Amino acid sequence: ETAGTVIKCRAAVTWCVNEPFSIEVVEVAPPKAHEIRIKMVYTGICGSDDNAVYGKFKDMQFPIILGHEGVGIVESIGGGVKGFKPGDKVIPLFAPQCGQCRCCKDPRTNICTTARMERPKGLMADGTSRFTCKGKKIYNFLNTSTFTEYTVIDEIAAVKIDENTALDNISLIGCGFSTGYGSALNAAKVHPGSSCAVFGLGGVGLAAVMGCKAAGASRIIGVDINKGKFGLAKELGATECINPKDYDKPIQQVLVEQTGGGLDYVFECIGDTETMQAPTHEWRVAAINSSHHGFGTTVIVGVSAANKTITFDPMIFLTGRTLTGSVFGGWKPKDSVPKLVHDYMEKKFDLDKLVTHRLPFEKINEGFDYLRKGKSIRTILRF
Ligand code: NAI
Ligand code: ZN
Repeated sequence: ETAGTVIKCRAAVTWCVNEPFSIEVVEVAPPKAHEIRIKMVYTGICGSDDNAVYGKFKDMQFPIILGHEGVGIVESIGGGVKGFKPGDKVIPLFAPQCGQCRCCKDPRTNICTTARMERPKGLMADGTSRFTCKGKKIYNFLNTSTFTEYTVIDEIAAVKIDENTALDNISLIGCGFSTGYGSALNAAKVHPGSSCAVFGLGGVGLAAVMGCKAAGASRIIGVDINKGKFGLAKELGATECINPKDYDKPIQQVLVEQTGGGLDYVFECIGDTETMQAPTHEWRVAAINSSHHGFGTTVIVGVSAANKTITFDPMIFLTGRTLTGSVFGGWKPKDSVPKLVHDYMEKKFDLDKLVTHRLPFEKINEGFDYLRKGKSIRTILRF
């Protein structure tokens, strides 16, 4: 019986920017009102966690427990919690859904205003933390923090899933799979017979490829500077793959030439402002410039560094292109995650192919090494 007590457990703490994960014993306080404490079972490693290690996110503070793509079991609940009980299987939601704000009530978006604007960053709603280590307060990451055996999450930032779900790979529904897949289905609304290009073939980009395929796109071009990603991209639905390094002209020019003027849909799944848009005839990849005038849509999915901006010639948009973006693939998470889990169990999509490595939690640094070296798509850590 741990309910109501402080739990001592292992967590991977990131003490400062650019530092490796340090496995520490942390204290996890019991959940307060409208919070739940979760025993993590599996967590994935996402490109966003890596961005956070390098301090790319705005408003993040160290020391911090990173991780946001996980699955676990409710250990205990705080006062007033309605939708959860101990023993429930849950997926943490880095993009929460309060259900009450203007955005949550609007079918056009999944960006919850309460979570985004009204809550302290890296802390619980009351402005305090549930994690301490060696007498220091530890911040949380994106409302979730999954690189720990136990975490405390606001009830708006978790969702209950079917009790019969086999857990391991399902953690990808908490971020990478849903983000990429939904960017094609919800944000771009890819139509049958269309042409798509996906820049960046990591877990997120490959899931976007799967989404484009599911939507019936007839051409899906994968773009990556690591050709080691091309095999899986083709297996998942890319009809061709290109490496910008193989050309001595800007990749947007190559794509425009190869697609009769540009693509219907372009997805930037890298998180580099220079791959989102290139000013004129730079060598770099430029997603926006690869879309067709008149109707081409670019979806920004990659998270760029907090201080980076892009500029563009207004003619790009005056002539009818659209630039948009999406968080968590545009899915309203409380509504959609249980359905995605159900569809996964019904084998409507095969996210298992995205899992290339499995490691015990203590080997988290090894998992990040595979990601940084371009060797892994998703590594699943088990607790
Ligand atoms: P990843 O590191 O596995 O994949 C990135 C891919 O981009 C790699 O295959 C890499 O070789 C490729 N790449 C890097 N530079 C390139 C260049 N100049 N040209 C072409 N390809 C290049 O990362 P993951 O997990 O797939 O995440 C991708 C991005 O999506 C990250 O920025 C991450 O923060 C973001 N993200 C966004 C979410 C959202 O809700 N919008 C949620 C999850 C992740
Ligand atoms: Zn993620």
